[in-house]
Amino acid sequence: ATTTYTARAHTNIALIKYWGKKDEKLILPMNSSLSLTLDRFYTETSVMFDEQLKDDLFLLDGSKEKNDKISNFLEIVRQKANITAKAKIISKNHVPSTAGLASSASAYAALALAASKAAGLNLDKKELSRLARRGSGSACRSIYGGLVEWQEGIDDQTSFAHPIEMSRDFDIAMIALVISTDFKKISSRAGMKRVVETSPYYPAWVQNTAKDLRKLKQAISKNDFETFGEVSEENAMKMHALNMSAHPHFNYLEPDSIKAMKIVEKLRSQGVSCYYTLDAGPNVKVICRRKDIQAIVDRLSDSFGQEKVLVAGPGPAAHLI
Ligand code: DP6
Repeated sequence: ATTTYTARAHTNIALIKYWGKKDEKLILPMNSSLSLTLDRFYTETSVMFDEQLKDDLFLLDGSKEKNDKISNFLEIVRQKANITAKAKIISKNHVPSTAGLASSASAYAALALAASKAAGLNLDKKELSRLARRGSGSACRSIYGGLVEWQEGIDDQTSFAHPIEMSRDFDIAMIALVISTDFKKISSRAGMKRVVETSPYYPAWVQNTAKDLRKLKQAISKNDFETFGEVSEENAMKMHALNMSAHPHFNYLEPDSIKAMKIVEKLRSQGVSCYYTLDAGPNVKVICRRKDIQAIVDRLSDSFGQEKVLVAGPGPAAHLI
């Protein structure tokens, strides 16, 4: 069958971070993590398998790319579906230009859904999450909308994401501040590997993150925004501390990241309930309630320019379009 399927999956931002693997091939994480899927940023991907193709063909945002990671991922799909045809893939990132927020999470979640369908598979959500995980760990969480937990599991069968019940009046927004799009980057894959292998603090991270996850889930169930923000911010800082304790040490923060973090802390001291998190790059994401968005956007726009400030809310699960 040469039917084309198109899927859309949204980016997610981790509040309790995934940072280290216990199995690099299967992408099994050292600890469970928890994220928020966002409405504003997503990837749309079309896949078609065709016996006539000599090689997998991949077009990202209009430009042709050779990508071994994607071909390896398609191999997993072909094995599951018991087919041999190569695939044609067209993918487009919907993130405001130069945002530097394009993510492997939305990319592999969309690819898992579109490719499995195009290959004739009808995976349930759990199987889809497991499949997306094989492309990029964080992608297993983008199969679901809203707040999502990735339970680490002990093997391929048991490592997948599931949604976390959030009360209907759980009020959350995320403001992404784009610090820089040109920086020398250590990929998350390489960064977390180095940390697992060399940071003397890594065992403490694993233990402590399990506690942070429990606290965060409790805060969600009690609708306790302050604890929710505090635990998220602290967990992100522990992840960045790991990087600085690796050998050779590295650091994703830029001077402007620190400047933004100070602004958030200052706003907080003035009574605005806001917290930050950062991933494998210098951009700062601010966690806040909807009523405080404007005050925070204004303050960040003053310092960084309003084109650098992007507001998002909870987003939907991956779906076919
Ligand atoms: C800092 O999912 O990109 O965003 O599994 O090697 O592809 P691979 O890594 P990836 O790592 C994401 C790291 C993070 C934290 C998180 O999303 O939990």
